[in-house]
Amino acid sequence: MSWCVYIQFLASLLGVDAGQEAIIRALLYPVREKLVLPYDITVAEFTDRISEYRNKLGKAGLKDEGLVVPTFLGAEGKVEGNIIAGNENSTFYARTLQEALRIVYGTGNESVPGGFFPNGLNGRLPRSFLGPGN
Ligand SMILES: *[C@@H]1O[C@H](CO)[C@@H](O)[C@H](O)[C@H]1NC(C)=O
Ligand SMILES: *[C@@H]1O[C@H](CO)[C@@H](O)[C@H](O)[C@H]1NC(C)=O
Repeated sequence: MSWCVYIQFLASLLGVDAGQEAIIRALLYPVREKLVLPYDITVAEFTDRISEYRNKLGKAGLKDEGLVVPTFLGAEGKVEGNIIAGNENSTFYARTLQEALRIVYGTGNESVPGGFFPNGLNGRLPRSFLGPGN
């Protein structure tokens, strides 16, 4: 695959992924103040905790945000509602492959599979982090 085709493919993949995420977040936004039983925290707090956990596992600072954020983190620093989480220019936060692996593995380490992929992801790049014999 040429780089151009590869980038087009990645952009289309990202587009679908972003669309799915936006739909889920848009559905959760109207119920953001509702309590999630039996946890006794609101939907908004739930999304915050998931985002904090993903930020912690990714080890690359703030790249994930909950549904409600302080105004300075909202779109162009103007709103609290945060259906589409973006950076200060309202573009998506970029993640490296290592960051993404740390999160989907749930281990905070791209060399230690777990979580959604207990045997690690296939493919030359993800396998290259697993060390010899993998
Ligand atoms: C936001 O835009 C400004 C001005 O173009 C740029 O300097 C800055 O690096 C951008 N921030 C991000 C996170 O892309
Ligand atoms: C990640 O795991 C590998 C393999 O167990 C280990 O060598 C490496 O030190 C770990 N990295 C961190 C940052 O803990």
